[in-house]
Amino acid sequence: MINIITTNKVRIGIIGSGGIAQAHARSYMQMPEVEIIAVADVIQGKAAEFIERLGLTDAKAFDSHLELLELDLDGVSVCTPNVAHHRTSVDALNAGKHVLVEKPLAVTLEQGVEMVQAGKKADKILTVGFQPRYDPNMQAVKQIVQSGQLGNVYYVQTGGGRRRGMPGGTFINKELAGAGAMADIGCYSLDLALNALGYPKPLSVSAFTSNHFGTSPTYHPQAERFEVEDFGVALVRLEGGKVLNFKISWAMHMDSLGPTLFLGTDAGLKLTPAGSGPWSGVWDGGIGSITLFHDIQGHHTESPIPVQQHNLNIFYEKVRDFVVAIKEGKSAPIPGEEILINQAIIDGILRSSELGREVEIEIPEV
Ligand SMILES: NC(=O)c1ccc[n+]([C@@H]2O[C@H](COP(=O)([O-])OP(=O)(O)OC[C@H]3O[C@@H](n4cnc5c(N)ncnc54)[C@H](O)[C@@H]3O)[C@@H](O)[C@H]2O)c1
Repeated sequence: MINIITTNKVRIGIIGSGGIAQAHARSYMQMPEVEIIAVADVIQGKAAEFIERLGLTDAKAFDSHLELLELDLDGVSVCTPNVAHHRTSVDALNAGKHVLVEKPLAVTLEQGVEMVQAGKKADKILTVGFQPRYDPNMQAVKQIVQSGQLGNVYYVQTGGGRRRGMPGGTFINKELAGAGAMADIGCYSLDLALNALGYPKPLSVSAFTSNHFGTSPTYHPQAERFEVEDFGVALVRLEGGKVLNFKISWAMHMDSLGPTLFLGTDAGLKLTPAGSGPWSGVWDGGIGSITLFHDIQGHHTESPIPVQQHNLNIFYEKVRDFVVAIKEGKSAPIPGEEILINQAIIDGILRSSELGREVEIEIPEV
């Protein structure tokens, strides 16, 4: 990145003014060097209401992101439903704005590729909003795996398991969301595992998905509109002789899908489910505890690593990192190019589940 901001204020626009846009706005509002210049939402009047509710009196409201992009802005937060991430991000990058796009990157792999290509062509940041990356526990996991103390990690098991946690609205519409639990919370768990491993190349996947709960009026008030998966499991072969066992659920008759495990030739790492809910992994930004196991002969030496005390607002940290990258001319904190691998796995999972067999994963050159 070459364009270092020399003026005092970083000028930001927000595209999509629903639930998560508030968290973006409130984070920006805590940064004196940031000015929220405009908000756009396709629902007429919604951006104006948002501006009023948050007291952003100097911000302009638009019903189209294209009008917002005509303004002199440094960056935008893309907070639309998944299906609109692609169009709005590509338009923003083409208009010379840096982009922080909410997770998941896109709905399809092709869309993700186009987004990354647009970022490269414009030489602008395309960063993806995975706030668990700012959790010191997730950083500790990566540090342990990358330090080599586990030896050669050959097996990882991860995934988030909500017992009763099915969303509605745009999240259950296939066209708008792309996928269900896999994309919504699964992308976080995939990021935990892949980030720790250094984002190895995925080779193939065999997956199974189902939606017994979402489509049942007993369990979901919008069952007749439920089009995505509420459960999925996948075996992903990774380069370097590694395998990832990934599972996710929005609803199930069980408290948890088990801990996240890294099995290495010298030690194993276990992340037990976070205490605040019946799930495991870090999709909610918290890990219960991290335990290292060594020595398979005789007694094992279990060395509990206490959960780090932190009062960090990880959501604020992710938005802050985007602003710092813009101001200091740094590259994307969580590059879209890296997260294409995450998207390619979700794409492979959906294809495999539909075909009922293992499929290859190919990531186009960008
Ligand atoms: N990082 C997190 O913790 C987190 C949490 C929740 C949601 N999300 C992600 O944030 C995104 C939005 O989720 P939400 O819960 O805020 O949804 P939402 O439905 O509450 O809000 C989305 C808004 O975008 C608007 N919109 C749709 N298409 C648009 C377009 N082309 N241009 C401008 N506005 C448009 C909609 O009218 C709506 O107001 C999703 O991708 C979701 O996965 C992230």
